[in-house]
Amino acid sequence: MSKPLRIALTKGRLEKDTIGLLEQLGYDCTVVREKGRRLILPVTNGDLQFEVVLAKANDVITYVEHGVCDLGVVGKDTIMEMEGTFYELLDLGFGRCKFALAGKKGTDFYSGFGVKTIATKYPNVTRNFFETKGMDVDIVKIEGSVELAPLLELSNGIVDIVETGTTLKENGLEVFEDVCAISARMICNTVSMKLRQAEVETLISQMEQLLSDTAAQ
Ligand code: PRP
Repeated sequence: MSKPLRIALTKGRLEKDTIGLLEQLGYDCTVVREKGRRLILPVTNGDLQFEVVLAKANDVITYVEHGVCDLGVVGKDTIMEMEGTFYELLDLGFGRCKFALAGKKGTDFYSGFGVKTIATKYPNVTRNFFETKGMDVDIVKIEGSVELAPLLELSNGIVDIVETGTTLKENGLEVFEDVCAISARMICNTVSMKLRQAEVETLISQMEQLLSDTAAQ
């Protein structure tokens, strides 16, 4: 028997939603729910068995690209920022939020001729966004709360994830423009897609069916 399919799962919010989805499909995820400090966890559904690997979002892509994990669950935000070579198979429908350009409330962001400074954790997404607008900007990479940058006058705006909008609101900031919608995606290593096609397609079609049944309710 071949080794079980390995799925890299982004730790945190996407982890819980993915486990919920797998359980709805009849997979026993007890070991993942009671994982303690274990990082590679078996998940079974009768004959079908695979391993869940819990990792940070960027690492999910790295593991899938290198083929040490066959599949990965990761946000579209990370996919857009890291790019890379893999297949994006399915929009899982959860982890919904958006990328937005935001800044201090009441600012007329597009007025004036000076080059604007944009703070972000996502420099590639930001560069691509402003390139499509034909607008030259200076990009400053920030690791923590990007919302601080316009408050401290480091930048004219930020490109960041907005989910509920609470962080912006509580800091006197507002969305100037939406960049794009984000949700969790299932990605697949290019070689696994060929060598493990039947197993990958079984899991993906089970998920697709469940997602369309849920959407129809
Ligand atoms: C994200 C994002 C915002 C916040 C937006 O940060 O960078 O700061 O969520 O969410 P809201 O619209 O619901 O207020 P996250 O909490 O993921 O932490 P991070 O700084 O570690 O990315």
